[in-house]
Amino acid sequence: MAQPSPHCPNPMQVHSLQRETDDVWTLNLINNDFYPYQPGQFALVSIRDSEDTLRAYTLSSSPGLSPFVSISVRCLPDGIGSRWLTQEVKPGQILWLSDAQGTFSCMQHPSDRYLMLAAGCGVTPIISMCRWLVVNRPECDIQVILNVRTPENVIFAEQWQQLSATCPQLKLTLMAEEQVQPGFLHGRIGEQVLRQTVPDITSRTVMTCGPIAYMQQVEQLCQQFGVPATQFHKEQFHTPVEQGEKHGKQIMLRIGQPLREYRVPVGSTLLAALESHKLPVNAACRAGVCGSCKTRILEGSYTTTSNMTLSAAEIEQGYVLACSCQLQGDITLA
Ligand code: FES
Repeated sequence: MAQPSPHCPNPMQVHSLQRETDDVWTLNLINNDFYPYQPGQFALVSIRDSEDTLRAYTLSSSPGLSPFVSISVRCLPDGIGSRWLTQEVKPGQILWLSDAQGTFSCMQHPSDRYLMLAAGCGVTPIISMCRWLVVNRPECDIQVILNVRTPENVIFAEQWQQLSATCPQLKLTLMAEEQVQPGFLHGRIGEQVLRQTVPDITSRTVMTCGPIAYMQQVEQLCQQFGVPATQFHKEQFHTPVEQGEKHGKQIMLRIGQPLREYRVPVGSTLLAALESHKLPVNAACRAGVCGSCKTRILEGSYTTTSNMTLSAAEIEQGYVLACSCQLQGDITLA
């Protein structure tokens, strides 16, 4: 069997697809060889066995505990990877995965007290770690706060209920913005909720995963409460869809020789800005992992969420991963 991509050398057979919510499916995969991974890590998946189209998904299973290697995927209307995985892939088919990657794992940030904060699909690494911790670190005290839009959007709802009912060391708080039911707090994560539910927050290792705006808010709150930076960890990869566009304000993207200028929304990724104007750019994983979208910025204002494949010297020279670079002001590319 040919290996479709140097990034994704691990063939896995789809055993089953399980619907978690209206738009999230779990794909359970059978791996014939040993596939080492840590709870909370992710893998790249080769989409349609292509070398050029890779997507990063968290492994939502837990090593040593789950019968399958699983990924849980939200089907995005324009998501090439997520639509294929959730709508077209069938049991029996082979998927190609990279080795497990990433540092967002409780094994890399050991503690005896955790606060796990997740919103939306950010719950996937969190449940992987919680399952693993209650079995392998039973003395560990774990608080979890999950934020969803409506109670129906809770991914792995039954598993969460079971974990909180059977594991006294895990305390679960559910929050919904709309259609609140008994068992849910109303609203979003904020100062008051944290003060009331986690008064000992500064003594905990905080791990958070969710949309970028959510994680930024959580980070600010943790700073405000005095959680040491060394105790705060957030998942670093994000899809461009999550990053979105802010405020409708525009900035100027300039590309030299001959000079061309394009208007793009502030806050959009460099990758989205280039693609929206049909400018050439390579992008395989779109998640700051594979390095294929490396681009050099000569000047301008931007933030980055991943520099995973770049050396310190390249970062110094202005290289960014276009998929993980958010444009904040006018930008000039090399
Ligand atoms: S597309 Fe893979 S790092 Fe940007």
